[in-house]
Amino acid sequence: MSMWEAEEKVARGLAGVVAAVTRISHIDGEKGELSYCGYDATELARNSSFEEVCYLLLHDELPNARQLAAFKQQMLDNRQISPALLELLRNLPGAPKPMDALRTAVSSMSATDSSPSDVSRSANMRRAIRIISQMPTIVATHWRLRQGEKPIDPDPSLGHAANFIYMLFGRAPRDIEARFTDMAMILMAEHGLNASTFAARVTAATLADIYAAFTTAIGTLAGPLHGSANAEAMKMLLEIGSPDKVESYIRGQLMAGKRIMGFGHRVYKTGDPRAMLLREVLATMDGEVGNPRWLSMAMEVEDQAHRQKGLYPNVDFYCAPTLYSLGFPMELFTPLFACSRSVGWAAHILEQYDDNRVIRPDAVYKGAPRRSYIPCEERK
Ligand code: ACO
Repeated sequence: MSMWEAEEKVARGLAGVVAAVTRISHIDGEKGELSYCGYDATELARNSSFEEVCYLLLHDELPNARQLAAFKQQMLDNRQISPALLELLRNLPGAPKPMDALRTAVSSMSATDSSPSDVSRSANMRRAIRIISQMPTIVATHWRLRQGEKPIDPDPSLGHAANFIYMLFGRAPRDIEARFTDMAMILMAEHGLNASTFAARVTAATLADIYAAFTTAIGTLAGPLHGSANAEAMKMLLEIGSPDKVESYIRGQLMAGKRIMGFGHRVYKTGDPRAMLLREVLATMDGEVGNPRWLSMAMEVEDQAHRQKGLYPNVDFYCAPTLYSLGFPMELFTPLFACSRSVGWAAHILEQYDDNRVIRPDAVYKGAPRRSYIPCEERK
Protein backbone atom coordinates (compact mmCIF):
# COMPACT_ATOMS: atom_id res chain seq x y z
CA MET A 1 0.00 0.00 0.00
CA SER A 2 1.43 3.42 -0.94
CA MET A 3 1.78 6.10 1.71
CA TRP A 4 -1.01 8.08 0.02
CA GLU A 5 -3.36 5.11 0.04
CA ALA A 6 -2.51 4.48 3.69
CA GLU A 7 -3.09 8.13 4.53
CA GLU A 8 -6.54 7.98 3.02
CA LYS A 9 -7.41 5.24 5.48
CA VAL A 10 -6.48 7.37 8.50
CA ALA A 11 -9.56 8.02 10.61
CA ARG A 12 -8.81 11.62 11.61
CA GLY A 13 -9.78 12.10 15.23
CA LEU A 14 -10.53 8.34 15.27
CA ALA A 15 -13.97 9.15 13.82
CA GLY A 16 -15.96 6.00 13.16
CA VAL A 17 -13.36 3.73 14.81
CA VAL A 18 -14.86 1.17 17.18
CA ALA A 19 -12.34 0.88 20.01
CA ALA A 20 -14.15 -0.95 22.82
CA VAL A 21 -17.07 -3.15 23.77
CA THR A 22 -18.98 -1.53 26.60
CA ARG A 23 -21.96 -2.25 28.83
CA ILE A 24 -22.07 1.25 30.26
CA SER A 25 -23.88 3.52 27.82
CA HIS A 26 -25.23 3.68 24.29
CA ILE A 27 -25.67 6.68 22.00
CA ASP A 28 -27.94 6.58 18.97
CA GLY A 29 -26.68 9.64 17.11
CA GLU A 30 -29.36 9.48 14.40
CA LYS A 31 -32.29 9.26 16.81
CA GLY A 32 -30.66 11.56 19.36
CA GLU A 33 -30.89 9.05 22.19
CA LEU A 34 -28.58 8.33 25.11
CA SER A 35 -29.02 5.43 27.50
CA TYR A 36 -27.14 4.38 30.63
CA CYS A 37 -27.11 0.57 31.05
CA GLY A 38 -30.29 0.47 28.96
CA TYR A 39 -32.16 3.29 30.72
CA ASP A 40 -32.91 6.54 28.88
CA ALA A 41 -30.56 9.12 30.45
CA THR A 42 -33.22 11.86 30.28
CA GLU A 43 -35.72 9.60 32.08
CA LEU A 44 -33.11 8.97 34.77
CA ALA A 45 -32.46 12.72 35.04
CA ARG A 46 -36.17 13.40 35.48
CA ASN A 47 -36.83 10.67 38.00
CA SER A 48 -33.76 9.50 39.87
CA SER A 49 -30.82 10.96 41.79
CA PHE A 50 -27.13 11.34 41.04
CA GLU A 51 -26.30 8.72 43.68
CA GLU A 52 -28.74 6.24 42.10
CA VAL A 53 -27.20 6.83 38.66
CA CYS A 54 -23.71 6.37 40.14
CA TYR A 55 -24.75 2.99 41.46
CA LEU A 56 -26.28 2.05 38.11
CA LEU A 57 -23.18 2.99 36.11
CA LEU A 58 -20.83 1.22 38.51
CA HIS A 59 -22.93 -1.92 39.03
CA ASP A 60 -24.97 -2.21 35.78
CA GLU A 61 -28.29 -2.32 37.70
CA LEU A 62 -30.42 0.21 39.53
CA PRO A 63 -30.17 -0.35 43.29
CA ASN A 64 -33.06 -1.49 45.48
CA ALA A 65 -33.82 0.70 48.53
CA ARG A 66 -31.39 -1.17 50.80
CA GLN A 67 -28.56 -1.09 48.25
CA LEU A 68 -29.13 2.61 47.59
CA ALA A 69 -29.08 3.46 51.30
CA ALA A 70 -25.80 1.54 51.75
CA PHE A 71 -24.28 3.18 48.66
CA LYS A 72 -25.29 6.68 49.80
CA GLN A 73 -23.74 5.96 53.18
CA GLN A 74 -20.51 4.84 51.51
CA MET A 75 -20.43 8.10 49.53
CA LEU A 76 -21.12 10.12 52.69
CA ASP A 77 -18.33 8.30 54.54
CA ASN A 78 -15.91 9.29 51.77
CA ARG A 79 -16.80 12.96 51.28
CA GLN A 80 -14.32 14.48 53.69
CA ILE A 81 -10.86 15.17 52.24
CA SER A 82 -7.76 14.23 54.24
CA PRO A 83 -5.84 16.87 56.25
CA ALA A 84 -2.93 16.29 53.84
CA LEU A 85 -5.11 17.12 50.86
CA LEU A 86 -6.46 20.22 52.58
CA GLU A 87 -2.86 21.34 53.19
CA LEU A 88 -1.99 20.69 49.56
CA LEU A 89 -4.94 22.83 48.39
CA ARG A 90 -3.88 25.61 50.77
CA ASN A 91 -0.30 25.53 49.48
CA LEU A 92 -0.68 25.08 45.73
CA PRO A 93 1.92 27.29 44.05
CA GLY A 94 0.66 30.28 42.07
CA ALA A 95 -3.07 30.68 41.62
CA PRO A 96 -4.10 27.58 39.68
CA LYS A 97 -7.40 27.48 37.85
CA PRO A 98 -10.03 25.22 39.45
CA MET A 99 -9.52 22.42 36.88
CA ASP A 100 -5.74 22.52 37.40
CA ALA A 101 -6.17 22.36 41.17
CA LEU A 102 -8.63 19.47 40.81
CA ARG A 103 -6.24 17.56 38.55
CA THR A 104 -3.34 17.99 40.99
CA ALA A 105 -5.49 17.12 44.01
CA VAL A 106 -6.90 13.92 42.53
CA SER A 107 -3.43 12.89 41.41
CA SER A 108 -2.16 13.39 44.97
CA MET A 109 -4.83 11.07 46.41
CA SER A 110 -2.65 8.08 45.50
CA ALA A 111 -0.28 9.13 48.29
CA THR A 112 -2.90 8.44 50.96
CA ASP A 113 -4.15 5.16 49.50
CA SER A 114 -4.13 2.68 52.39
CA SER A 115 -3.41 -0.42 50.24
CA PRO A 116 -1.64 0.69 47.05
CA SER A 117 -0.56 -2.82 46.09
CA ASP A 118 -4.13 -4.20 46.12
CA VAL A 119 -5.26 -4.03 42.48
CA SER A 120 -8.36 -6.19 42.93
CA ARG A 121 -11.68 -5.06 41.45
CA SER A 122 -13.13 -4.41 44.90
CA ALA A 123 -10.16 -2.22 45.88
CA ASN A 124 -10.49 -0.23 42.65
CA MET A 125 -14.24 0.13 43.23
CA ARG A 126 -13.52 1.52 46.73
CA ARG A 127 -10.98 3.92 45.25
CA ALA A 128 -13.46 5.01 42.56
CA ILE A 129 -16.15 5.80 45.14
CA ARG A 130 -13.60 7.68 47.26
CA ILE A 131 -12.57 9.84 44.31
CA ILE A 132 -16.15 10.44 43.08
CA SER A 133 -17.26 11.41 46.62
CA GLN A 134 -14.35 13.76 47.25
CA MET A 135 -14.16 15.61 43.95
CA PRO A 136 -16.92 18.12 44.88
CA THR A 137 -15.22 18.68 48.27
CA ILE A 138 -11.92 19.36 46.50
CA VAL A 139 -13.54 21.80 44.05
CA ALA A 140 -15.48 23.64 46.78
CA THR A 141 -12.52 23.76 49.19
CA HIS A 142 -10.16 25.14 46.56
CA TRP A 143 -12.76 27.64 45.38
CA ARG A 144 -13.36 29.02 48.87
CA LEU A 145 -9.65 29.20 49.67
CA ARG A 146 -9.16 31.07 46.41
CA GLN A 147 -11.82 33.59 47.44
CA GLY A 148 -10.08 34.02 50.82
CA GLU A 149 -12.93 32.17 52.56
CA LYS A 150 -12.89 29.33 55.06
CA PRO A 151 -13.61 25.89 53.57
CA ILE A 152 -16.88 24.30 54.66
CA ASP A 153 -17.12 20.68 55.78
CA PRO A 154 -19.58 18.45 53.93
CA ASP A 155 -23.08 18.21 55.43
CA PRO A 156 -24.11 14.55 55.79
CA SER A 157 -27.80 15.47 55.80
CA LEU A 158 -27.59 16.70 52.18
CA GLY A 159 -27.51 14.71 48.95
CA HIS A 160 -24.45 14.81 46.68
CA ALA A 161 -25.56 17.79 44.52
CA ALA A 162 -27.11 19.78 47.39
CA ASN A 163 -24.01 19.28 49.51
CA PHE A 164 -21.83 20.55 46.67
CA ILE A 165 -23.83 23.80 46.55
CA TYR A 166 -23.68 24.04 50.35
CA MET A 167 -19.89 23.59 50.45
CA LEU A 168 -19.44 26.21 47.72
CA PHE A 169 -21.78 28.93 48.92
CA GLY A 170 -22.22 28.19 52.62
CA ARG A 171 -26.00 27.89 52.42
CA ALA A 172 -28.31 24.92 52.03
CA PRO A 173 -29.84 25.18 48.54
CA ARG A 174 -33.54 25.32 47.91
CA ASP A 175 -34.98 21.98 46.83
CA ILE A 176 -35.45 23.16 43.26
CA GLU A 177 -31.84 24.37 42.95
CA ALA A 178 -30.54 21.07 44.28
CA ARG A 179 -32.87 19.20 41.92
CA PHE A 180 -31.76 21.11 38.81
CA THR A 181 -28.09 20.68 39.73
CA ASP A 182 -28.68 16.98 40.34
CA MET A 183 -30.38 16.70 36.93
CA ALA A 184 -27.50 18.43 35.17
CA MET A 185 -25.03 16.14 36.94
CA ILE A 186 -26.97 13.03 35.88
CA LEU A 187 -27.01 14.24 32.26
CA MET A 188 -23.24 14.78 32.29
CA ALA A 189 -22.41 11.56 34.17
CA GLU A 190 -21.52 9.36 31.21
CA HIS A 191 -21.11 9.58 27.46
CA GLY A 192 -19.34 6.62 25.92
CA LEU A 193 -15.89 7.08 24.43
CA ASN A 194 -15.77 10.86 24.60
CA ALA A 195 -12.24 12.31 24.66
CA SER A 196 -11.71 12.32 28.45
CA THR A 197 -13.15 8.84 28.96
CA PHE A 198 -11.12 7.45 26.09
CA ALA A 199 -8.01 9.10 27.54
CA ALA A 200 -8.79 7.51 30.92
CA ARG A 201 -9.11 4.10 29.26
CA VAL A 202 -5.81 4.53 27.40
CA THR A 203 -4.08 5.24 30.73
CA ALA A 204 -5.86 2.38 32.54
CA ALA A 205 -4.95 0.02 29.70
CA THR A 206 -1.26 0.39 30.58
CA LEU A 207 -2.28 -0.88 34.06
CA ALA A 208 -1.37 2.50 35.52
CA ASP A 209 -3.43 3.05 38.67
CA ILE A 210 -6.90 4.60 38.85
CA TYR A 211 -5.50 7.92 40.13
CA ALA A 212 -3.36 8.22 37.00
CA ALA A 213 -6.38 7.42 34.81
CA PHE A 214 -8.53 10.03 36.58
CA THR A 215 -5.75 12.61 36.31
CA THR A 216 -5.55 12.00 32.56
CA ALA A 217 -9.31 12.36 32.25
CA ILE A 218 -9.47 15.63 34.19
CA GLY A 219 -6.65 17.09 32.09
CA THR A 220 -8.44 16.08 28.90
CA LEU A 221 -11.84 17.39 29.94
CA ALA A 222 -10.33 20.82 30.59
CA GLY A 223 -9.89 21.56 26.86
CA PRO A 224 -12.18 24.11 25.16
CA LEU A 225 -13.31 21.61 22.53
CA HIS A 226 -14.51 19.28 25.31
CA GLY A 227 -15.54 20.16 28.88
CA SER A 228 -14.58 23.83 28.84
CA ALA A 229 -17.04 24.56 26.03
CA ASN A 230 -19.75 25.25 28.65
CA ALA A 231 -17.87 28.24 30.10
CA GLU A 232 -17.00 29.42 26.58
CA ALA A 233 -20.69 29.19 25.60
CA MET A 234 -21.65 31.36 28.57
CA LYS A 235 -18.98 33.92 27.69
CA MET A 236 -20.48 34.01 24.20
CA LEU A 237 -24.03 34.62 25.53
CA LEU A 238 -22.75 37.41 27.77
CA GLU A 239 -20.79 38.92 24.88
CA ILE A 240 -23.85 38.87 22.58
CA GLY A 241 -25.87 40.62 25.26
CA SER A 242 -29.37 40.57 23.76
CA PRO A 243 -31.44 38.41 21.36
CA ASP A 244 -31.50 41.07 18.59
CA LYS A 245 -27.68 40.86 18.29
CA VAL A 246 -27.57 37.08 17.84
CA GLU A 247 -28.01 36.88 14.08
CA SER A 248 -25.11 39.20 13.23
CA TYR A 249 -22.89 37.73 15.94
CA ILE A 250 -23.28 34.17 14.65
CA ARG A 251 -22.78 35.33 11.07
CA GLY A 252 -19.59 37.17 12.05
CA GLN A 253 -18.20 34.19 13.94
CA LEU A 254 -18.88 31.77 11.11
CA MET A 255 -17.49 34.12 8.48
CA ALA A 256 -14.33 34.47 10.55
CA GLY A 257 -14.07 30.65 10.60
CA LYS A 258 -14.64 30.53 14.36
CA ARG A 259 -16.55 27.81 16.20
CA ILE A 260 -19.80 28.42 17.99
CA MET A 261 -19.10 27.01 21.43
CA GLY A 262 -21.60 24.43 22.69
CA PHE A 263 -22.56 23.44 19.13
CA GLY A 264 -21.76 20.45 16.98
CA HIS A 265 -21.05 16.93 18.03
CA ARG A 266 -19.12 13.97 16.69
CA VAL A 267 -21.92 11.49 17.34
CA TYR A 268 -25.28 13.32 17.46
CA LYS A 269 -26.59 14.15 14.00
CA THR A 270 -30.09 15.35 14.91
CA GLY A 271 -29.54 16.98 18.29
CA ASP A 272 -28.30 16.12 21.75
CA PRO A 273 -31.09 14.88 24.08
CA ARG A 274 -29.25 16.27 27.11
CA ALA A 275 -29.36 19.76 25.61
CA MET A 276 -33.11 19.40 24.99
CA LEU A 277 -33.80 18.51 28.62
CA LEU A 278 -31.61 21.33 29.93
CA ARG A 279 -33.47 23.73 27.63
CA GLU A 280 -36.66 22.54 29.32
CA VAL A 281 -35.09 23.12 32.75
CA LEU A 282 -34.06 26.63 31.70
CA ALA A 283 -37.63 27.28 30.56
CA THR A 284 -38.94 26.54 34.06
CA MET A 285 -36.73 29.19 35.65
CA ASP A 286 -38.93 32.01 36.72
CA GLY A 287 -36.75 34.56 38.45
CA GLU A 288 -37.24 33.06 41.89
CA VAL A 289 -34.95 30.26 40.87
CA GLY A 290 -32.66 31.17 38.02
CA ASN A 291 -32.94 33.93 35.48
CA PRO A 292 -35.52 33.59 32.68
CA ARG A 293 -33.73 36.01 30.32
CA TRP A 294 -31.25 33.42 29.12
CA LEU A 295 -33.83 31.16 27.50
CA SER A 296 -34.79 33.56 24.71
CA MET A 297 -31.13 34.40 24.05
CA ALA A 298 -30.08 30.76 23.96
CA MET A 299 -32.99 29.77 21.71
CA GLU A 300 -32.13 32.53 19.28
CA VAL A 301 -28.52 31.30 19.15
CA GLU A 302 -29.80 27.77 18.58
CA ASP A 303 -32.03 28.97 15.76
CA GLN A 304 -29.30 31.00 14.05
CA ALA A 305 -26.60 28.34 14.40
CA HIS A 306 -28.97 25.88 12.74
CA ARG A 307 -30.11 28.26 9.98
CA GLN A 308 -26.62 29.47 9.16
CA LYS A 309 -24.58 26.27 9.49
CA GLY A 310 -26.98 23.39 10.26
CA LEU A 311 -25.50 23.06 13.77
CA TYR A 312 -27.31 21.62 16.79
CA PRO A 313 -26.55 22.51 20.41
CA ASN A 314 -24.71 19.96 22.55
CA VAL A 315 -25.05 19.48 26.31
CA ASP A 316 -22.54 22.25 27.04
CA PHE A 317 -24.65 24.93 25.39
CA TYR A 318 -27.79 24.67 27.54
CA CYS A 319 -25.77 23.62 30.57
CA ALA A 320 -24.08 27.03 30.51
CA PRO A 321 -27.11 29.31 31.10
CA THR A 322 -28.64 26.70 33.43
CA LEU A 323 -25.62 26.70 35.75
CA TYR A 324 -25.17 30.47 35.39
CA SER A 325 -28.80 31.02 36.34
CA LEU A 326 -28.36 28.78 39.34
CA GLY A 327 -25.53 31.03 40.51
CA PHE A 328 -22.49 28.89 39.67
CA PRO A 329 -19.45 31.00 38.74
CA MET A 330 -18.36 30.30 35.14
CA GLU A 331 -14.97 29.03 36.31
CA LEU A 332 -16.77 26.21 38.10
CA PHE A 333 -18.80 24.97 35.12
CA THR A 334 -16.08 22.60 33.94
CA PRO A 335 -15.17 21.37 37.45
CA LEU A 336 -18.88 20.61 37.99
CA PHE A 337 -18.83 18.71 34.70
CA ALA A 338 -15.76 16.80 35.96
CA CYS A 339 -17.53 15.91 39.23
CA SER A 340 -20.46 14.58 37.18
CA ARG A 341 -18.35 12.69 34.62
CA SER A 342 -16.21 11.17 37.39
CA VAL A 343 -18.73 8.32 37.51
CA GLY A 344 -18.50 7.56 33.79
CA TRP A 345 -14.70 7.67 34.02
CA ALA A 346 -14.75 5.25 36.95
CA ALA A 347 -17.10 2.82 35.20
CA HIS A 348 -14.93 2.82 32.07
CA ILE A 349 -11.65 2.47 33.97
CA LEU A 350 -13.04 -0.57 35.83
CA GLU A 351 -14.38 -2.00 32.58
CA GLN A 352 -10.96 -1.54 30.96
CA TYR A 353 -9.18 -3.33 33.83
CA ASP A 354 -11.73 -6.19 33.59
CA ASP A 355 -10.80 -7.06 30.00
CA ASN A 356 -7.58 -5.31 29.25
CA ARG A 357 -5.39 -4.89 26.21
CA VAL A 358 -3.00 -1.98 25.73
CA ILE A 359 -4.55 0.64 23.41
CA ARG A 360 -1.98 1.34 20.76
CA PRO A 361 -3.11 2.48 17.29
CA ASP A 362 -0.83 2.89 14.27
CA ALA A 363 0.18 6.03 12.37
CA VAL A 364 1.09 6.58 8.74
CA TYR A 365 4.67 7.92 8.62
CA LYS A 366 5.06 11.00 6.42
CA GLY A 367 8.45 12.25 7.61
CA ALA A 368 11.91 12.13 6.02
CA PRO A 369 13.00 8.90 4.30
CA ARG A 370 15.34 6.59 6.22
CA ARG A 371 18.81 8.22 6.41
CA SER A 372 22.20 7.91 8.12
CA TYR A 373 23.32 9.73 11.22
CA ILE A 374 25.92 12.47 10.57
CA PRO A 375 28.03 13.57 13.54
CA CYS A 376 27.22 17.09 14.69
CA GLU A 377 30.61 18.57 13.66
CA GLU A 378 30.09 17.37 10.09
CA ARG A 379 26.60 18.83 9.71
CA LYS A 380 26.26 22.00 7.63
N1 ACO B 1 -19.10 25.92 15.15
C1 ACO B 1 -18.89 26.11 13.84
N2 ACO B 1 -18.66 25.09 12.98
C2 ACO B 1 -18.63 23.87 13.49
C3 ACO B 1 -18.84 23.60 14.86
C4 ACO B 1 -19.09 24.69 15.69
N3 ACO B 1 -19.33 24.53 17.00
N4 ACO B 1 -18.77 22.27 15.07
C5 ACO B 1 -18.50 21.72 13.90
N5 ACO B 1 -18.42 22.67 12.95
C6 ACO B 1 -18.17 22.47 11.54
C7 ACO B 1 -16.68 22.43 11.24
O1 ACO B 1 -16.16 23.69 10.98
C8 ACO B 1 -16.68 21.54 10.04
O2 ACO B 1 -17.19 22.29 8.97
P1 ACO B 1 -16.59 22.18 7.49
O3 ACO B 1 -16.87 20.77 7.08
O4 ACO B 1 -17.32 23.23 6.74
O5 ACO B 1 -15.11 22.45 7.65
C9 ACO B 1 -17.76 20.50 10.34
O6 ACO B 1 -18.67 21.18 11.21
C10 ACO B 1 -17.24 19.26 11.06
O7 ACO B 1 -16.49 19.65 12.19
P2 ACO B 1 -15.40 18.75 12.89
O8 ACO B 1 -14.50 19.59 13.74
O9 ACO B 1 -14.74 17.86 11.89
O10 ACO B 1 -16.30 17.83 13.82
P3 ACO B 1 -15.77 16.94 14.97
O11 ACO B 1 -16.70 15.81 15.08
O12 ACO B 1 -14.33 16.62 14.79
O13 ACO B 1 -15.84 17.89 16.26
C11 ACO B 1 -16.69 19.06 18.09
C12 ACO B 1 -16.86 17.84 17.18
C13 ACO B 1 -15.26 19.13 18.65
C14 ACO B 1 -17.65 18.93 19.25
C15 ACO B 1 -17.00 20.33 17.28
O14 ACO B 1 -18.35 20.29 16.87
C16 ACO B 1 -16.67 21.61 18.02
O15 ACO B 1 -15.54 22.08 17.98
N6 ACO B 1 -17.69 22.19 18.75
C17 ACO B 1 -17.45 23.37 19.53
C18 ACO B 1 -16.86 23.00 20.89
C19 ACO B 1 -17.87 22.26 21.74
O16 ACO B 1 -19.01 22.65 21.87
N7 ACO B 1 -17.38 21.21 22.40
C20 ACO B 1 -18.20 20.42 23.31
C21 ACO B 1 -18.48 19.07 22.74
S1 ACO B 1 -19.58 18.14 23.74
C22 ACO B 1 -18.71 17.79 25.09
O17 ACO B 1 -17.52 17.70 25.12
C23 ACO B 1 -19.46 17.61 26.30
